[in-house]
Amino acid sequence: MKKHYDVAIIGGGIIGMSIAYHLAKAGKKVILLEANEVGKQTTSAAAGMLGAHAEGEGHEDIFFQVGRASQALYEKLKVDLRHESGIDIRTSAGGIMKVAFTEEEKRALCRMQHLSTFQWLEASSVKKRMPQIADDIIGAGLIEDDVHVEPYAVCRALWQAAVWYGADVKEYTPVIEVKQDKKALTIRTVEGTFTCDHLTVASGVWSGRFFGELGLSHSLYPVKGECVSVWNSGPALAHTIYHGHCYVVQRDSGKLVIGATMKPNEWHALPTLGGIEAVIQKASQLMPSIQEMPIDQCWAGLRPATSDLHPYIGRHPDDERILFATGHYRNGILLAPMTGEIIRDLILGETVNEEWLDAFRIGRKEALFE
Ligand code: FAD
Ligand code: GLY
Repeated sequence: MKKHYDVAIIGGGIIGMSIAYHLAKAGKKVILLEANEVGKQTTSAAAGMLGAHAEGEGHEDIFFQVGRASQALYEKLKVDLRHESGIDIRTSAGGIMKVAFTEEEKRALCRMQHLSTFQWLEASSVKKRMPQIADDIIGAGLIEDDVHVEPYAVCRALWQAAVWYGADVKEYTPVIEVKQDKKALTIRTVEGTFTCDHLTVASGVWSGRFFGELGLSHSLYPVKGECVSVWNSGPALAHTIYHGHCYVVQRDSGKLVIGATMKPNEWHALPTLGGIEAVIQKASQLMPSIQEMPIDQCWAGLRPATSDLHPYIGRHPDDERILFATGHYRNGILLAPMTGEIIRDLILGETVNEEWLDAFRIGRKEALFE
């Protein structure tokens, strides 16, 4: 007889693992199937910023609301995960310093002025906090709540804790086929076939094929990001430096993570010399002393993007046993706790914020990405 689970999850990145953790903790019998190694794809490539303010456009919109709510969930999650897994997810203090070189950039940043979480600092105050910063900035917006975590540590902690609550996690187990019929959902893998009451597709940028197999026409495309890390030979950075798509993040280990390029539709996750050169050039304009620092490593990851750059979090429009949690683009680390809670609540039949569900619904009207 085939083994039966309450919930099967495809994909062991931070999103799938957060879902496994939340459901196993709620008492569900869960299996998570990972094609390679847990957390080693896009999740490991991330800088780990919880950039609800820094990454948003509107600061009044749904992304900001959900991002702020997910940031808040990290507060409890880090304590719970420490207890449940023994792993410290290494939340930093300090937040993000979003710098401006021109009056126009200052004006754009100061649209956040009405938020109590935003503080405009003139160049001299920024310099006092961060002597490493470039001389030609005119100031910066300090957002102390946009802290960062260590993405792989979060994923590993969720994994250990999910297993502690009884989840089965299988690495090197790609899902080959999903079959829907009225009686059951059947998942075929290289390790055998399982049945389940609910299925969640959380396979990052590789989720597209499951949309097709499950009768939907939605797709995802990669936006490759290349990064380099160096050993910080100077004083630790008090805040993440952020400008455009470029950032410098201080890790506990003494490394600085420097990112990242934005290359749509590149499917190979290897960094190129040109990409790394561009990242180093931009970061040197923000913090000239990085030029002297020894290189640790270079890497790349594929951000899973949808046509409107918002994730799909919710039910299959025609089969409520099937759910999707994918397309988290630049913000999967930030949104992982809230995504886990939303999918858990949908499966448990609990109330979920309708406005959020609507914004992330599969089948919403999406503006074309330009
Ligand atoms: P993944 O981590 O890619 O996991 C999906 C998993 O599914 C993979 O492990 C894959 O092997 C598995 N899989 C695929 N097909 C199958 C199959 N058939 N069967 C079984 N398993 C399968 N976000 C932030 O919030 N803050 C940041 O600072 C940040 N920085 C970033 C920097 C860079 C350079 C990049 C590239 C991304 C960054 N992101 C950041 C975005 C974040 O990394 C992603 O949104 C997030 O990792 C997506 O997680 P995921 O679990 O959906 O995907
Ligand atoms: N959120 C940072 C990045 O995607 O590069």
